[in-house]
Amino acid sequence: MIAGSSERKIDKMIYLLVKNATVLVPGPKIASQIGVTRAAVSLWAKRLRELGVEIKAHRRTGYQLLKIPDILVPSLIQEELGGSEMGQDIIHHYRIDSTNTAALDLAQKGAEHGTVVVAEEQTGGRGRLGRTWYSEKLSGLYVSVILRPPFSPAAAPILTLMAGAAAQHALSTATGLGVDIRWPNDLLVNGKKVSGILTEMSAELGRLHAVVLGIGINVNHSEMPAELRPTATSLRIESQRIWSRVQILVALLKELERHYHLLLEKGNAAIAERWAAASTYAKGKRVRIVTAEAETLATTAGLDPSGGLRVRYDDGREETLVAGEIAEVK
Ligand code: BTN
Repeated sequence: MIAGSSERKIDKMIYLLVKNATVLVPGPKIASQIGVTRAAVSLWAKRLRELGVEIKAHRRTGYQLLKIPDILVPSLIQEELGGSEMGQDIIHHYRIDSTNTAALDLAQKGAEHGTVVVAEEQTGGRGRLGRTWYSEKLSGLYVSVILRPPFSPAAAPILTLMAGAAAQHALSTATGLGVDIRWPNDLLVNGKKVSGILTEMSAELGRLHAVVLGIGINVNHSEMPAELRPTATSLRIESQRIWSRVQILVALLKELERHYHLLLEKGNAAIAERWAAASTYAKGKRVRIVTAEAETLATTAGLDPSGGLRVRYDDGREETLVAGEIAEVK
């Protein structure tokens, strides 16, 4: 729909209108500040309306925002982040196949640690284990963060847990809802999934070039598609209110930064401890372990310092899970 540099210009237009929210901004002023023609301004005002931005055009005098829009405009997010390294560069798309694919591509081209890719809609959102991620337009958060950690590829599981613990903290403090973590990093509210994380990396010969943390959060979906309803939910469904996606994204990036530094400074154990404190799945939970071959019942028995989940089978055998998924046995 809108791509590349025009996305940056339309973001600038929103920024300008938000900063002058109570006044009329003349069309020529918008045109000159963002470097486009007056005709382009009127076209973009139309497109912004299609995105749900309430914007009024007054003949001859200019444009006025009627309501601050909840669009993930980088400059508005960066003002709230106050110079944190996660989000120092934010690439915003109105529509993209997958923010993870875009972030992996940017990482390949040398994008810096802390670069963030966000989208209002994904047409090919990817989930773990080859699944798709339902990415409804303007309702969820679809975010990918590029990290360049000084670790070997073997550290990927702890980075995944780090992201899960950070997102759990951000969502529970921003909304006041009880948010659980199901290993490795599904976030649940009232037993249903509100957020998932897909960690991908580019590495060669034992050297980690970049890690992409792809985080999807169901924020303002008024209902989930029928096939997801038994297992997935949104923050709005669970709280009966609409949330600011901008505020939730800001909280998420701040917590990611805090948890990443905790990992660098205090090591794996500090992250494993936080994760275990926030998850009912860490210890003593009856679970079904789902692999390609079979489904087995077990009881969880704590986290391994590298991020694996220890489980005890009914015959007394113990194992550390490093991949795959588990489900609660009710
Ligand atoms: C899961 O299966 O639980 C992981 C879902 C991860 C979805 C996010 S949305 C942003 C990023 N881009 C993608 O294509 N996937 C991740």
